Amino acid sequence: MSDKKLNEDVSKRRTFAIISHPDAGKTTITEQLLLFGGIVREAGTVKARKSGNFAKSDWMEIEQKRGISVTSSVMQFDYEGKRINILDTPGHEDFSEDTYRTLMAVDSAVMVIDAAKGIEPQTKKLFQICKMRGIPIFTFMNKLDRDGREPMELVSQLEDVLGIEAYPMNWPIGSGRILKGLYDRHNHRVELFEPGVEGRHFLPLDDEGNIKGDNQLEGDSIYDDAKEEMDLISEAGNEFDPDKIANGDQTPVFFGSALANFGVQTFLDAYLEMAPAPGQHQTLQDKEIQPIDEKFSGFVFKIQANMNPHHRDRIAFVRICSGRFEKGMDVTLDRTKRDIRLSNVTEFMANTRENVKTAVAGDIIGLYDTGNFQIGDTIYTGKDEVTFEKLPQFTPELFMRVSAKNVMKQKSFHKGIKQLVQEGAIQLYTTYSTGQYILGAVGQLQFEVFKFRMQNEYNSDVLMEPMGSKIARWIDPEQLDEKMSSSRNILVRDTNDDPLFLFENQFAERWFKGKYPDVKLTAKL
Ligand code: G4P
Repeated sequence: MSDKKLNEDVSKRRTFAIISHPDAGKTTITEQLLLFGGIVREAGTVKARKSGNFAKSDWMEIEQKRGISVTSSVMQFDYEGKRINILDTPGHEDFSEDTYRTLMAVDSAVMVIDAAKGIEPQTKKLFQICKMRGIPIFTFMNKLDRDGREPMELVSQLEDVLGIEAYPMNWPIGSGRILKGLYDRHNHRVELFEPGVEGRHFLPLDDEGNIKGDNQLEGDSIYDDAKEEMDLISEAGNEFDPDKIANGDQTPVFFGSALANFGVQTFLDAYLEMAPAPGQHQTLQDKEIQPIDEKFSGFVFKIQANMNPHHRDRIAFVRICSGRFEKGMDVTLDRTKRDIRLSNVTEFMANTRENVKTAVAGDIIGLYDTGNFQIGDTIYTGKDEVTFEKLPQFTPELFMRVSAKNVMKQKSFHKGIKQLVQEGAIQLYTTYSTGQYILGAVGQLQFEVFKFRMQNEYNSDVLMEPMGSKIARWIDPEQLDEKMSSSRNILVRDTNDDPLFLFENQFAERWFKGKYPDVKLTAKL
């Protein structure tokens, strides 16, 4: 395989996640995107997954019950010469550390916002992770076919609440029942909203930004208002800045309606013009791995367990960072330096008729795993050692006390906990006072999966006692005095032996800070 071919293949890849608060329209927009990619049948499965009608026979029971499917974790399709990978970031109660870690494996993010609701909590959390990574973030203001907030308000919310510069690529002409179209300054045209009419229709703009020739919007006050606002933004708003967009300091903003399929293709076309192909990855050996390096490398960002006790396999999701994956290839697992043959692999072409045998940088492969992999593991080919930077840890918000139901089975209890924690399925803390175990998670599902797997894989029934949400804050061991601990700020140690407090609420944290003003408390991400 020549360099040129690899170069060509990599430059076609666009790998992103859609981040949003539940119900903003992520599923609807994903389906639209798959449709543009000619994936009709599979598009239905995205919806079905959500409604729980979709079950694949041999995936874990919990997944089936909830209708989550591994095949919808990564969706791949071709559009306009590009190969697009969409990585799912589950919302609702499926929200977990995996959701955050998935954002470590993408090159850009699309933020979908319900125009009636503005920025909601989950969007904000996910946004912050993308911002920390410095990846481009594109915004789609959805549900324009309904009455929503003023577009000006939505745009300034991005700046005020999220602290990111906004650059509107287009501007709505009305909304809800009086939605007429989009004033599209990027493409110098007006896109008409014509429900029930086949195809998209555009009115071109002249050099002054006015619609050329006679048209139905002339003299329409709704159009005039939109044009006026767009002119105001062009004069007084942010300048389009590709460098800022590349670093996630400015977000291009698009308006539309996923349900009415309005503005979605316009968004996708502009997104593909601007979104980056896979970039380089830094290693702990102080090297930058280029995606077109011929040597293969990648890292595990997610592990999904198969709950079937008869075959205790799992799937390790690997983001390819360089080179080309070939079925049956031998790679080195950096953590153990052992060689592993990648023969049992699943790929994520949404269109099942196409059986892709190779994947390149930017793509995701799923490795059937019998316990070799941990989250954050690097795999590579060649003699030179490659270790990608560690995946960040996220501050858990939900906590449970955990113990073995049967005191005679302590051994399997400890073994199970140790392995699941190592794998990254859940976080573990030990209290200073009694040495009791406390589990931490960012989403409720992590606890359920933990319990299920302890029972099925380690034959260990566990007792779990909810402690509700807490605020976890790490403290410098030098500053720690065990007497600082109380029932409202429980002192625990994490698996690195670092001390932290679990505060009952913000009030308790503030009280603590008032009492110990010199003590520095820190959160993870
Ligand atoms: P999510 O994945 O982000 O959770 O959201 P999803 O796409 O499932 O959309 C949530 C609800 O919002 C759905 O309605 C969906 O039809 C609706 N929706 C999505 N995009 C638009 C839009 O552009 N305009 C309008 N008016 N509605 C939109 P639902 O009633 O909850 O589900 P369903 O019965 O339609 O499946």
